[in-house]
Amino acid sequence: MTAPLIDPFHRAVSYLRVSVTDRCDFRCVYCMAENMTFLPKKELLTLEELDRMCSTFIRLGVEKLRITGGEPLVRRDIMTFFRAMKRHLDSGALKELTLTTNGSQLERFAEELYACGVRRVNISLDTIDEKKFADITRWGRLEQVMRGVDAAQAAGLRIKINAVALKGFNEDELFTLAEWCADRDMDMTWIEVMPMGDLGNEDRIGQYWSLDELRGRLAERYTLTDLAERTGGPARYVRLEETGQKIGFITPMTHNFCESCNRVRLTCTGQLFMCLGQEDMADLRGALRSSEGDSVLEAAIRAAIALKPKGHDFDYSRQKVDGQMSRHMSHTGG
Ligand code: GTP
Ligand code: 5AD
Ligand code: SF4
Repeated sequence: MTAPLIDPFHRAVSYLRVSVTDRCDFRCVYCMAENMTFLPKKELLTLEELDRMCSTFIRLGVEKLRITGGEPLVRRDIMTFFRAMKRHLDSGALKELTLTTNGSQLERFAEELYACGVRRVNISLDTIDEKKFADITRWGRLEQVMRGVDAAQAAGLRIKINAVALKGFNEDELFTLAEWCADRDMDMTWIEVMPMGDLGNEDRIGQYWSLDELRGRLAERYTLTDLAERTGGPARYVRLEETGQKIGFITPMTHNFCESCNRVRLTCTGQLFMCLGQEDMADLRGALRSSEGDSVLEAAIRAAIALKPKGHDFDYSRQKVDGQMSRHMSHTGG
């Protein structure tokens, strides 16, 4: 029996998030610069290497695999990888195979994702206003994402909509978004914006909308009941009694959830980041490429987990940003 991955703070690591590409077809303003320089494709792990990495983590006790990016569905041939991962669902070693996507390519891939054993997708969507959508993504077309939402539902995928809470941007859509999700029987999660990427102090503080405040606004219209159930990620959920829908809150800034952290992140170049908000990482690509067998890689993974820090240092209090991470979210996949 293989020993599970346990970090220095006695947390078991059972959730691996894998960024399969740093590229994206949108440029959300809080996530990427307009003129991002992307990695040369030869830097990326190949699909076979990604398979070997993920399979090793699964052997070491990872039960939940979330594929992210950039936009994971713009990586060429990515379905080959999803198809390969299905064997771990079939064997029972993997409990959930899922992805976080901007939805732009779902019309093409929804059915195939379902066939690969994916049952749930998280779609990042901060607004359902066409003009605002084009602004925040810099050029995205909302209609394309809406077709993706339709296709995903038609294929039988359960959807959770993820919206980053942005002051002055989607405050006015709090109820519209909730109602739109309720009408379509989709869950939704609000996320507090974290100081990542290259936006300056003032812009970050200006953008930040605390979920304590958002929750208060929601409670003016709906009766909120806290739910104990979790989805394995950091969100805490409430039910809106009037509609029965679930709304989640991801609150890195106001209610730190690091204590129960169960995840690590693999970048598309094979670096393992132990925390979204810290620099601690290990280069697993070297270990992977250095040997045919997986014992070197396994040892490198265990050594990396031993470095997992207690949590992030993000903080907006005192009207300044602390713990800013210049790394872009697309690098580690959110
Ligand atoms: P579920 O399986 O639906 O619970 O998904 P999830 O919340 O684990 O994944 P998702 O990709 O939907 O995460 C949404 C966002 O939450 C991410 O893009 C991040 O912004 C934030 N987030 C997720 N995990 C962490 C974490 O470990 N630390 C911090 N600080 N933020 C996180
Ligand atoms: N803070 C919080 N969430 C972010 N995302 C991207 N950048 C940030 C940030 N600075 C979210 C996206 C998407 C996920 C991949 O990461 O909205 O849901
Ligand atoms: Fe885990 Fe770091 Fe996220 Fe905290 S900030 S929940 S420690 S990844």
